[in-house]
Amino acid sequence: MTASSAAQAAYIVAALLFILSLAGLSRHETSRHGVVSGIAGMAIALAATIALATRSIAATGVALLAVAMVVGAGIGLWRARRVEMTGMPELIALLHSFVGLAAVLVGWSGYLDVEAKGSGQHEIAHDLLGIHHAEVFIGIFIGAVTFTGSIVAFLKLSARIRSSPLMLPGRNYLNVGALAAFVGLTAAFVASPNVGLLTAVTVVALALGLHLVASIGGGDMPVVVSMLNSYSGWAAAASGFLLDNNLLIVTGALVGSSGAYLSYIMCAAMNRSFLSVIAGGFGMEAAGPDDRDYGEYREITAEETAELLKDASSVVITPGYGMAVAQAQYPVADLTRRLRERGVEVRFGIHPVAGRLPGHMNVLLAEAKVPYDIVLEMDEINDDLAATSVVLVIGANDTVNPAAAEDPGSPIAGMPVLRVWEAGQVVVFKRSMNTGYAGVQNPLFFRENSQMLFGDAKERVEDILKAL
Ligand code: TAP
Repeated sequence: MTASSAAQAAYIVAALLFILSLAGLSRHETSRHGVVSGIAGMAIALAATIALATRSIAATGVALLAVAMVVGAGIGLWRARRVEMTGMPELIALLHSFVGLAAVLVGWSGYLDVEAKGSGQHEIAHDLLGIHHAEVFIGIFIGAVTFTGSIVAFLKLSARIRSSPLMLPGRNYLNVGALAAFVGLTAAFVASPNVGLLTAVTVVALALGLHLVASIGGGDMPVVVSMLNSYSGWAAAASGFLLDNNLLIVTGALVGSSGAYLSYIMCAAMNRSFLSVIAGGFGMEAAGPDDRDYGEYREITAEETAELLKDASSVVITPGYGMAVAQAQYPVADLTRRLRERGVEVRFGIHPVAGRLPGHMNVLLAEAKVPYDIVLEMDEINDDLAATSVVLVIGANDTVNPAAAEDPGSPIAGMPVLRVWEAGQVVVFKRSMNTGYAGVQNPLFFRENSQMLFGDAKERVEDILKAL
């Protein structure tokens, strides 16, 4: 067996492991296996690629490869160890930007390589050159959109820039214009390739990525991150065509299609139009300031909440981003255990976009060893909420906002929410009357059956445990 066919065989094994990894990651119970399969697949892929590369490059090239890998792996390990669960989406957004940048560099070097070898001397048959040029162009375009789009997403998610949408006049025309320019430039480049056109498409795509993501507001950021995940997959697949690497094509397509599908599911969960989100907030209106009078809110103490829970027959806990910030999942798991020992039925209601990344709450609850069978999805629990004695809203806000269901003028109108206000009593754990991620007021806090338990969610749940 030649080295090349051994590498191809290794690539097939790695591709199968990646597919197994995705399958494993789709359920809590198998997610650890999924991660292990992914690591194994990546280790095999790296080993095969390095083995293949070291046969055809000079010793200095191998040394550079080793240095790059050691530095990259070191930074990766350091960041991954330090990142908080709440900082995960921004780290992911930043990593997507690297994939985008790599695709741009691969595209440029793919073109310069052919140029350097001069017409007639390169390995690509003349008939296929047009396809090669189109691959270069498309790879650079997707890569550059992913690169700047991911950087803007990173800056928005880490609150380094404001998360409200940038509303330039004629913004939809700008996006459509950039796409039209891309099509025109591609045709021109295939007919007569030159560095000027390549520079032009790079600049257009960098600007489009910036504008697309800057135009999307806070509430839609989760979809944007998963869309950029998808773009980064397609950018990697385009690089795979250029580098003639089948594994990169397969892996890129897996990431591209699963990211697109996840975005679609999230759009359905937030009642957002998929097309409107990927087209940079197409058709969305900016919300004006909200100066309505919502009335008075009532406060409750941890001791009173404990009394409420003692008398309850059923309790539903709806966690949100605040539970992650406070790291309250451990006392919440203790509270669940204690209440169940007293014969109270306790269940969790998880909104599909609660927290800051898909599955955020599920991961935290699994970490604190809350049994899977009492952790229900929004659609599974919503119809039971009216018959529930007490709902504990722990650091959630947008995902339990009745305005989404009742106020057609609300910026989050139409987003499916947990209908916690239908329960007998609602206790909302948060530190202040501030708004949630989408920046909209929540009329739930002012309802007759709602009471606010102010303070850090972890401390307040611990106080309830003491009072119990
Ligand atoms: P949010 O609407 O963001 O509300 C979280 C609430 O937690 C805030 O109102 C905050 O109020 C409270 N909080 C923060 N720290 C706290 C602490 N230490 N103790 C107690 N409370 C604390 O959360 P949500 O209901 O989970 O909704 C998620 C939002 O994020 C949605 O708008 C969603 O679209 C968006 N988003 C989701 C994702 C994904 S994929 N899940 C990704 C990006 C964005 P105080 O400041 O008053 O304490």
